[in-house]
Amino acid sequence: MAGRTQGAQLDPQCQKEGPLGFSSWVEVDLSALEHNLQTAASRTAASILPILKSDAYGHGAPVVAAFLRGRGCSTLGVSGVEEALDILRWIRADIILLTPPLPSQLPLVVQHGLTATVTTSNLARELNDWAKRSGKRITVHIKVDTGLGRLGAAPQDVPELARLIINASHLKLGGVFTHFSAAARSRRFTLKQLHQLLSLQAELRSGSDLRRVLWHAANSAAFITLPASHLDVVRLGTLLYGQAPLALDGSWNLAQTWQFKTCIIQVRVLPPGHTVGYGLGYRTTRPTRVGVIPVGYSHGLELEPQSSPWRQIKQAAARALIQGSPVFHGSTPLAILGRVSMGLTCLDISGTDLDVGDTVTVHMRRTVVSRQIPRLYYVQGKLKCIFWNHQLFSPQGRRISLKGLF
Ligand SMILES: Cc1ncc(COP(=O)(O)O)c(C=O)c1O
Repeated sequence: MAGRTQGAQLDPQCQKEGPLGFSSWVEVDLSALEHNLQTAASRTAASILPILKSDAYGHGAPVVAAFLRGRGCSTLGVSGVEEALDILRWIRADIILLTPPLPSQLPLVVQHGLTATVTTSNLARELNDWAKRSGKRITVHIKVDTGLGRLGAAPQDVPELARLIINASHLKLGGVFTHFSAAARSRRFTLKQLHQLLSLQAELRSGSDLRRVLWHAANSAAFITLPASHLDVVRLGTLLYGQAPLALDGSWNLAQTWQFKTCIIQVRVLPPGHTVGYGLGYRTTRPTRVGVIPVGYSHGLELEPQSSPWRQIKQAAARALIQGSPVFHGSTPLAILGRVSMGLTCLDISGTDLDVGDTVTVHMRRTVVSRQIPRLYYVQGKLKCIFWNHQLFSPQGRRISLKGLF
C-alpha cells in the first residue's frame, strides 16, 4: 500500500456516470482503514479503541463498526447514547460512551449494556439504581479532567468517586481516563496531564485491587508524540482515518480512507462579462466553460454562504493564495466561480475536456458531509456495499444486511 494517497482504485465503470446513478457520493476505502489500524497496532503494545464519534468521522458508523469488529476490534468508542444506538441497530458491539449520559438516558444505557463514562457521584448512584432495577451490572469508566477543562471529574474528587463505584452493587469500574488538550503542540502540558493521571493510578492502586481497571489517555496526537501515554488502551480516531494531527516523519505511511466525488450536471460556455452565482460574486473576463456540480454548503462545502462582499473577497483570496480550490479533476484544481450556494457550485472547467456526468473530487470537512450523501465502501478496490438513506445495499443495488459481510 505504499504511497497510497488517492483513495481506492475503483471499478472503472463507476468513474463516469456515478455508481447506481448517484450524483454525489463518498468513497470509503476500508482496506486503507485496515492498513492504518495495522500501522497503529504495530507501534504499540496497548489495545486500540477505535473512535467512531460523528458518524465515524464522516465515514458512516454502522459499516465502519461492522468492518472494524470483523478485524478484531471488540470494543468501539462513540460520544453519546444516540451514536451507540445508531451502531447497535445494525450490529452487536461493546460500546464505550466517551461523554457522560444524561440522567434521562440511563435506562437506555442499562438496556443496551453500554459502558458509560461517569464524572459525578450523583450520576454513578443513579446509574447503579437503574442497573439494580434491571438486575444488570454496568461497566463504567471515570473521566478525569487533567487540564482540558471540558468534561471530567476534578482529580481530587476521583478517589471518592472510584470508591463509590467499586462499592456499588451493580456497577463495575472498568477504566479511568483523561483526554489531552494539546498533544500535538505542547509536550510539557501533555506530560503534566499524563503525570496527573499516573499519580491518581498510584493512589487508587494503593487502596484497592484495580488490576482489571483500564487506564487510558492517548488520542492520535499523543499516540504519535508520547508513547509513554499509551498505557492500557489508545483511543484513536484521526489516525485510523488516515489523517495526521501533526507532521509525521517518513516512517509513517498512512492510507487515505475517504473521498468525496460528484458529477458535473451542466456545462455551458459563458461569454466575457457574464456574472456567475448569487450576489454577482464573479464576472467572467473571457469565454469561460462553466461546469456546475450539485454540491454546496448544505453538503459541507465551505460550510456557510459568504454574506458580505468583504468576506467573499477574503474567501476568494484565501482560495487563490493559501488553500487553492477544494475541487479537483485528477490532480488539477478547478477554480470555484462566485459563491458556493446551498446545493450548487460553479467551476471553471475551461481548458479541460470535462463534460456532463464526469466526476470531480471535492475536499471537504468529513464530519460535516451530510448523511444524505451515499457512502460507498471498497475493499481492495472493489465496491463491497453502499450505505444510503439509512439502508444498506449490495453493489447491484439489492437491500442487504451487515451480518457476516466482513
Ligand atoms: C475522549 C476522546 N478520546 C479520543 C478521541 C480521538 O481523538 P483523535 O481523533 O485525535 O484520535 C476523541 C475525539 O475527539 C475524544 O473525544
